[in-house]
Amino acid sequence: MSAITFPEGFIWGTATAAYQIEGATRADGRGVSIWDTFSHTPGKVQDGHTGDVACDHYHRYAQDVALMADLGIRTYRFSVSWPRVQPDGHGAVNPAGLGFYDRLVDTLLDAGIDPMVTLYHWDLPQALEDQGGWPSRDTAYRFADYAQLVYERLGDRVTTWTTHNEPWCAAFLGYASGIHAPGRTEPGAAFAAVHHLLLGHGLAVQALREAGAQRLSIVLNPAAVAGTGPGSEAGVRLMDGLQNRIFLDPLLRGEYPEDVLEVIRRFSDLSYLQEGDLEIISRPLDLLGINYYSPSLVGPGTGPGSRSHPGTEGIELLPPQGPVTAMGWQIEPAALTALLKRIATDYPGVPLMITENGAAFNDVRTGDRVHDADRIAYLEGHIRAAHQAITEGVDLRGYLVWSLLDNFEWAEGYHKRFGLIRVEYDTQERILKDSALWYREVIKRNGLV
Ligand code: FCB
Repeated sequence: MSAITFPEGFIWGTATAAYQIEGATRADGRGVSIWDTFSHTPGKVQDGHTGDVACDHYHRYAQDVALMADLGIRTYRFSVSWPRVQPDGHGAVNPAGLGFYDRLVDTLLDAGIDPMVTLYHWDLPQALEDQGGWPSRDTAYRFADYAQLVYERLGDRVTTWTTHNEPWCAAFLGYASGIHAPGRTEPGAAFAAVHHLLLGHGLAVQALREAGAQRLSIVLNPAAVAGTGPGSEAGVRLMDGLQNRIFLDPLLRGEYPEDVLEVIRRFSDLSYLQEGDLEIISRPLDLLGINYYSPSLVGPGTGPGSRSHPGTEGIELLPPQGPVTAMGWQIEPAALTALLKRIATDYPGVPLMITENGAAFNDVRTGDRVHDADRIAYLEGHIRAAHQAITEGVDLRGYLVWSLLDNFEWAEGYHKRFGLIRVEYDTQERILKDSALWYREVIKRNGLV
């Protein structure tokens, strides 16, 4: 394989999320989030795992930042826990909670690492869910208020802001299939949640822009959807509509696609869609984050579709067609190149960043080493695929590995390890995996040898 070099200034980093690493869920006045409630509900998370302790990053952040600095990481994407900042999702700030992020940002900057803040990575304050959650319009306004409070405190030092992480998951895993918090199975509510997540995004962008924010973004997980076999085109278009265009079109074109509206009308009267909303939702963005792990394949036949994609009843979703990770997710780097090119072509003008890419494997510790050659191969393949997209004209600004640390993988609990750094959960010991040492070289060389 040939050596590749990325454009000068290409951003290399890692990503995490608050509920997955922080622990300390009762410390310093933090409120309850929907993930606390969900993970403490029997049967929701594998083996009853919860985020109560996680990687104890709340107390060990300085050590974790030092590890990042040692790896040469330039950008660290983390999320702020809304219930730490506003325990019930509205009203005055909890100073101790916001103080944690203040210290984290200072520690990062001292280490020469650029902080990239995600405002919402799925941990809605439970009090807001009790009042209706994302299917309720009011949540969008509460989110914009919260965003402003965080910006007021960190905006002097943080230049890149992301509103939501993967709103598709928040809406459809949370409210349609219910495999994520809050675990509701109401497809109509899931579509309302999509709209209010988008509206909350737009309101926050508007407010932060006025307050002087430099770089505003949202992070999506668009499906890299492909059809196999004659007649699969309609299914591909449907999946693309329900996972991709349902977000990309409102955000970047100021409209919902007509074919998507047709599907939504089967589940909802669309009364939540109000005049002026799309104008707010489509405020200009400075960066679009793309999370990519695996392709989605649609077959030529009929099938039950997926409960996480209401409206796909009747289409055939195929199981993985090749090698998979420990999540059972197909490994297909070429699909990343295709996805980036497609988004850059159909939605030109906004720079892209890969804000998550990585893999869980069944790592084995050998003494003080973890020889995770499979993770290195996965990352290398996808970094090459990202470079290929740049070669073909995509304005791609950076690549962030999911994840810095092994962590709480939502419904899978601690069984799935995505980290560059191994965490021994009983002792909180951190061990740099071979992939971490390898990534350090990638960053140093700004490419691959
Ligand atoms: C993404 C999430 C992230 C992590 C990875 C594996 O969907 O954004 O929190 O769980 O998947």
